[in-house]
Amino acid sequence: MCGIFGIVTKEIQNLGPILVGAGERLSYRGYDTVGAATIPQEGVIDLRKDAGKIQEIAEKYNFQDMSGDRAILQLRWATFGAPSQINSQPHLDSDGDLVGAHNGNVVNNVELREQFAAEGMIVRSENDGESCVHAVERYHDQGFEMVEAIRMATRDLEGDYSFVIGKVGEDRLYAIKKGSGLVAGITEDLTCIGSDLPSILPITRNILRLNDGEIITIWAGGYEITSVEDGSIIKREPEIADDSMEAAQKGGFDHFMLKEIHEQSQVAGELLHMLDNSPDLNPFLDKLAGARNIYLIACGTSYHAGLLGSVYFNQFAGRAAIPVLAPQFTAQYGSSVGPEDVGIFISQSGETKDVLNAIKTAKEQGMGILGLVNVVGSTLTLVSEVYLPLTCGYEISVPATKTYSNQVLALLYLALRYGGYNTDALNDIPKIMDRTLEEVSGQIDRVVNKLTGWNDLYILGYGLTYPVALEGALKLKEITYTHCEGMLSTEFKHGPLSAVSDGYPVIFTVGPDDIPLIVSGINEVTCRGGHVIAIGFQDSRLEGNAHETIIIPEVDVPEELRSAILALLSVIPLQILSYRCSLSRGYDPDFPRNLSKTLTVD
Ligand code: G6P
Repeated sequence: MCGIFGIVTKEIQNLGPILVGAGERLSYRGYDTVGAATIPQEGVIDLRKDAGKIQEIAEKYNFQDMSGDRAILQLRWATFGAPSQINSQPHLDSDGDLVGAHNGNVVNNVELREQFAAEGMIVRSENDGESCVHAVERYHDQGFEMVEAIRMATRDLEGDYSFVIGKVGEDRLYAIKKGSGLVAGITEDLTCIGSDLPSILPITRNILRLNDGEIITIWAGGYEITSVEDGSIIKREPEIADDSMEAAQKGGFDHFMLKEIHEQSQVAGELLHMLDNSPDLNPFLDKLAGARNIYLIACGTSYHAGLLGSVYFNQFAGRAAIPVLAPQFTAQYGSSVGPEDVGIFISQSGETKDVLNAIKTAKEQGMGILGLVNVVGSTLTLVSEVYLPLTCGYEISVPATKTYSNQVLALLYLALRYGGYNTDALNDIPKIMDRTLEEVSGQIDRVVNKLTGWNDLYILGYGLTYPVALEGALKLKEITYTHCEGMLSTEFKHGPLSAVSDGYPVIFTVGPDDIPLIVSGINEVTCRGGHVIAIGFQDSRLEGNAHETIIIPEVDVPEELRSAILALLSVIPLQILSYRCSLSRGYDPDFPRNLSKTLTVD
């Protein structure tokens, strides 16, 4: 996720304050690099950009003084290319009279850059935003008008993105939406576009929402929409947006956590696109194949993803991948690992001190370092021999949701590829996630009511659902301040069963292959008065034995993937349950007390 903004005004004016204001409002979408360009009728594009946050870069390059009647701004959440000045957006075309910037991922970026260079274009960066500019340059140089050149460029640019582009000597900008957000704002004196509503609202409430597959041409006070598919003109009138600024920032959701839960399907789609096309995938798999031992090293939620990954690796790759809590790595394996071993370090932030400490030991022992990480440019990406980005964009809410799901999905993908399986069946996952979210949402409130008054409960899982139980329990602990323990269901009878009294809540996450075993576990609780809630695919044995069930919709995937995908999906009801329990107790799920999103201390 990145943020783009573009504006065309009637008169040449000081555009600096407008650009900085839009940049500040877009900063939640990316803070790795920032850049702005003004585009003159004649002469040279004024392009200022660098790695850093908006306030810092705007001050260093004096954005406040930028003037003109057309400008583009971009804030970057790095995926392709490290956060550096050269990889910052906007980008110029070869001879410097086109300038553009994008939001999203162009997944065939590496291949396209090679083509552009072979065609004689000047490719300056590794960033996929530059590929958008060259793809337009390719057709514009053949004599096609800008809109037509953009239409043709979209056939070359694979992935989900939106981008904005302008040309010296014109009075307009062009923007296209394909999978990433794009909104326009129109007044008598100006027209602007932005990745989201908040970037535009303080300028105007006269808003036009773009759909995927549409190109908008904007000039001061006007616009035209063109269909990418057939080049026809689409008529649409602006509407007045009545959203408050805060509501708009949360995309209409009450909290960032809920927004991020709903973003899971979209970022899953982006991850799969990225993995299918990543030049780093095979080197990553080769490192694993050549390793004596593979370790999955992480903390908190990321550790739970690693734990599930270890089951996937066993099941699909026939390889042991040893999950380790990062702060225990030195104690458990510090003296026994060596250059023959490889660690996959899993981290949303790439900056968790406990993880960096484990990396230090791994490095000292000469071990191979691989990264699965959301924040590109973080320490983990810098020290990894190869890393794969999680493509989740900025996760604001302290409880991790979308980054966990993409960590799990990435590990499933890696395990399948390692084992020689086809990953095409995973392409349905975004749809399946949306359906799950829709169908489970209505089933959660009665469980929330049942948990009212309880400050102590268990979530149990077995095999593939054991890590899900741990993750669900962590979510509940983090944002409801309740003691909730996640545990292997078969361990419950070895002690914790004594906690069960009348109405005591126990949640079971149930994989389809484990039902007979779980039914025994359920009965051990119910016969002592405990209240059991079971989460799984619809099955009469669960309905017949648990007090309540939360049903995950059945999936149409090859049989060997059914349990693996159930495990990926069954965190969704637990995320929603935690969120609603947090609200019912009057807490703010986005910013729970005593916790921090990134822990850079021991
Ligand atoms: C903190 C966060 C957790 C996160 C953990 C590991 O405790 O509150 O949500 O799972 O750190 O963070 P990482 O960035 O390494 O995934």
